[in-house]
Amino acid sequence: MAHFNIIKGDITQMHVDAIVNAANTALSGGGGVDGAIHRAAGPQLDEACRKLNGCPTGEAKVTPGFNLPAKFVIHTPGPIWHGGHQNEPELLANSYRNSLKRAVENDCHTVAFPSISTGIFDFPLNQAAKIAIHEIQMFEAPLDVTMVCFDPVTFDAYQQEWQKAQQR
Ligand code: APR
Repeated sequence: MAHFNIIKGDITQMHVDAIVNAANTALSGGGGVDGAIHRAAGPQLDEACRKLNGCPTGEAKVTPGFNLPAKFVIHTPGPIWHGGHQNEPELLANSYRNSLKRAVENDCHTVAFPSISTGIFDFPLNQAAKIAIHEIQMFEAPLDVTMVCFDPVTFDAYQQEWQKAQQR
């Protein structure tokens, strides 16, 4: 990874090549960050998503950003947390890895992620942060990646796990 940073903020305001959406498998829009992205992008995003025929958990599909400052939206459904024995960690890692692959395929240089699965999908925050940071760090591409944390608790968790990863 060329550059990684963690900020507090609203991902819909990010002037980057691509923002990642913590979507659902129907790509039908929802609450949380998904709802915020759909509202900010406008109704064309809904139409574009409908044409994609959904997306399996851990995979990632791309649409334009429409009214967003970002050029693309990379939609990835993270796993719903069911206690940790249904492959949730691997599926979450897949979401990050496949999103980064889509970014590279679309010639993106700057990408912003929300904290996938740690809201409505209930994935334990620190474990999710550790997985996210690991996958982003291991990904070999000249990308500038920003984690956009919406609340201070999420921001602190990502900072902690980033510091731990530096010490390893
Ligand atoms: N910018 C950045 N992060 C945001 C924003 C925003 N504008 N709005 C919410 N978030 C944060 C939440 O605070 C949380 O830390 O995104 C993180 C992920 O939470 P959710 O949006 O609930 O995503 P997730 O847990 O992956 O659940 C996905 O929720 O909205 C539905 O359709 C979606 O069914 C899917 C599910």
